Amino acid sequence: MPRITNINDFKKAKSEKRPISMVTCYDYQMARIIAETEIDCILVGDSVGMAFAGYSNTIPVTLEQMIYHVEIVRRGAPNVFLIADLPFMSYHVSIEDTLRNCGNIMKKTGANAVKLEGGRDFVPVVEALVKASIPVVGHLGLTPQSIHKLGGYTVQGRDEQKRKVMIEDAKMLEEAGAFLLVLEMVPEQLAAEITSMLTIPTIGIGAGRYCDGQVLVITDLLGMDESFNPKFLKKYANLHSVVKSALSQYHHEVVSRIFPEEKNVFK
Ligand code: KIV
Repeated sequence: MPRITNINDFKKAKSEKRPISMVTCYDYQMARIIAETEIDCILVGDSVGMAFAGYSNTIPVTLEQMIYHVEIVRRGAPNVFLIADLPFMSYHVSIEDTLRNCGNIMKKTGANAVKLEGGRDFVPVVEALVKASIPVVGHLGLTPQSIHKLGGYTVQGRDEQKRKVMIEDAKMLEEAGAFLLVLEMVPEQLAAEITSMLTIPTIGIGAGRYCDGQVLVITDLLGMDESFNPKFLKKYANLHSVVKSALSQYHHEVVSRIFPEEKNVFK
């Protein structure tokens, strides 16, 4: 199957049992590189607040910041399916406020869809967005915008009651019209159960092997942060050491007058 280009391709991928690859992205250069690969879709996550801006959680991220980053990523990857995360409090106040915020995102960024965190409480929001022709991605399990309520970045849905609630929430989001569901930090067996119960695909992060696709934060998978090594993460590169050694070499060559060389100068 060629790269995903619209929301129907996600269901097609699931029906063909073809796993979906998703990665987060926040900037133009990375977006350009992603566009040169076969990665199916990009999420401009509100993880931008932690991975890019250095906040300790995603709560401070604003709608304006999201619009800024989504628009930049769209410029770097004009043809990749692009999902814009809705930041904290941009879809909580009222349906009217949510529609205005999402309308702004869609108009100003060229995103194909939006993503929001939460279950049954957000069913009316999902329904209103879908009615307004804005495709919606759901997000269950660890929902980082609820960090103060959850009390930590831990695996969700381990006890029977929470497990039952997550299964019901997943079904409700699908019925409300979400076309895709992110499952974050969920036991593998529960994610597998949700995946087989839904007709829409699930995308896992820390949710095991049986989701319909996987997503990782780009700075995590590229190994930018030496100290971030959660169990669910696989680092596909060690950019921290690559960048650090390049910068150290550059410094050394400047102070030793090795750089610039003759080939770098104008005559
Ligand atoms: O904000 C984000 O990057 C996310 C992914 C981790 C799914 O929500």
